[in-house]
Amino acid sequence: MSNTILSFTLNGEFTEVQVSPSDMLVDVLRDKLHLTGTKKGCGKGECGACTVIMNGEAVNSCMVPAMKAEGSKVETIEGIGSPDKLHPLQVSFMDNGAIQCGFCTPGMIMSAKALIDKKAEPSKEEIQEALSGNICRCTGYVKIEKAVSDAAKQIRENL
Ligand code: FES
Ligand code: FES
Repeated sequence: MSNTILSFTLNGEFTEVQVSPSDMLVDVLRDKLHLTGTKKGCGKGECGACTVIMNGEAVNSCMVPAMKAEGSKVETIEGIGSPDKLHPLQVSFMDNGAIQCGFCTPGMIMSAKALIDKKAEPSKEEIQEALSGNICRCTGYVKIEKAVSDAAKQIRENL
């Protein structure tokens, strides 16, 4: 299969990268664009570690053929905050002790951001639903849900 150029907006920047028709988005992000914040766990749509936001929706990037991202807007964990200026979700996960090994955290945060971007004051049930595809083997979900709720509150108060 011949390679082709994928053109899309990645974390606000127009981006072009050579991909093959069999490449999945997670592999292009990690291996070709060196954005290794997006994790690859199961590789088959079951753990949520690879979650990114594509055109406003949280998606498992291991299940998205890279070429499907043509013309899209993709956000990864690298695009939402920096060490100097963390996103409120990132701060809240730390403040709530919602991170242990951290492997699930980028995916959790991207799922949470997709929710908060649409719903400024999500209910507990909506947070649980938004995170239902993200597996954490360390922390337990109570702290993670509180972290999302607190971040949403902080974002609302700073609007
Ligand atoms: Fe994509 Fe597990 S790595 S869902
Ligand atoms: Fe380790 Fe969630 S913090 S898997």
